[in-house]
Amino acid sequence: MNISDIQIRPASIADAAFIAKNVMAALGTEEVYAEEMPEQVLKIWNIMIQVCQTSGVLYSWENTLIAEYEGMPIGSLTAYDGSTYKESREKTFAFFEESLSFDPDLMQDETKAGEYYLDSLAVLPAFRGNGIGKMLLQQGIETARRKEIPHVTILVSPTNPKAKRLYSSLGFREAGEVFAFGEYFQRMKLDTTEPMRIDILTVLPEMLDGFLNCSIVARAQRKGLVEIHVHNLRDWTLDKHKRVDDYPYGGCAGMVMQCEPIDRCIEALKAKRDYDEIIFTTPDGEQFSQPIANELSMKKNMIILCGHFKGVDYRIREHLITKELSIGDYVLTGGELAAAVMTDAIVRIIPGVIGDEQSALSDSFQDNLLAPPVYTRPADYKGWKVPDVLLSGHEKNIRNWEFEQALERTKRLRPDLLED
Ligand code: ADE
Repeated sequence: MNISDIQIRPASIADAAFIAKNVMAALGTEEVYAEEMPEQVLKIWNIMIQVCQTSGVLYSWENTLIAEYEGMPIGSLTAYDGSTYKESREKTFAFFEESLSFDPDLMQDETKAGEYYLDSLAVLPAFRGNGIGKMLLQQGIETARRKEIPHVTILVSPTNPKAKRLYSSLGFREAGEVFAFGEYFQRMKLDTTEPMRIDILTVLPEMLDGFLNCSIVARAQRKGLVEIHVHNLRDWTLDKHKRVDDYPYGGCAGMVMQCEPIDRCIEALKAKRDYDEIIFTTPDGEQFSQPIANELSMKKNMIILCGHFKGVDYRIREHLITKELSIGDYVLTGGELAAAVMTDAIVRIIPGVIGDEQSALSDSFQDNLLAPPVYTRPADYKGWKVPDVLLSGHEKNIRNWEFEQALERTKRLRPDLLED
């Protein structure tokens, strides 16, 4: 399946039956998806449908986002402002009266004011493992940012390490425990107000000036979604001539970046905060790619050390670096351009940086396909025509055409992307 065919939309009241199933599945009742539901499950589902049709309750359709594939709902996220929780919970539990299998008086609050609480997330079993849950969560985080709620929270069962890994990859951090529905859950929390921080260490800071002050990266900084700090390694040397390199041991050609300025600069940064990654740009690193950019865009902060000269004293790589990345099999004069490439690819997909979230998700490589061709007005330029289908207004034919084109271009230009 093609992830760019997934649409995320707000739910309508007509989705109540679907939402009700997903809320129950998220609460652990997977039998709700069975062709023939056990009687007790069916009974609760019927009550849950009424809940989902109601306003001002936890699982209201009004609190829900739907993931849709080919016009069919396949996943949902029910989430709300924690300040409404207490009142909505009372209204919700009132529907169930005697049928609650736990004592609500023993239940701790799942959320509170100041939090956007991601209550129930579920994807139909046949569609799991395609990144749909992640898309819904990203959209939930985006909603919290739009509503200017400072934290997003979610509970995860200790028996579900896979979900915990997913939430961690989105930037959630552990934040205590909650006893709810008769069991303990791990609380995970994400700060929506703190921008991502990238510290770039270089001997040529001027190479990054233009890039950092232009276009989307500059806008992301102005919007407060990312802070980028450039550090001149020459400011961290104790040498009076501000030397940062020296001759290599063993007498081969070229100069090597010394340990001291790099170590002093990284130590000073680490004294102020913990870093998620310390990256070194080098042609012999792991190949940078869209999945790596996606992963890094979820981090809170990172240091990028730009390599230069013949390389850096290997002890820095052994003791300080957590990730070594290359942007391709060619050697640049320095790592600054590589750091700029990586920063650009990471920053543009931070939720909120590009207005239309969908447009970053439909980029080339996001689903292992190259993007289809795009056209704009005029429809006929010097006899060069825009394909008829794009002018037809027929949404389904257009999406099919785009998919066929994407597949054809990928087969022709990058068959390796289709290998696994
Ligand atoms: N420094 C020099 N060449 C590089 C490359 N290809 N990728 C990352 N850093 C580099």
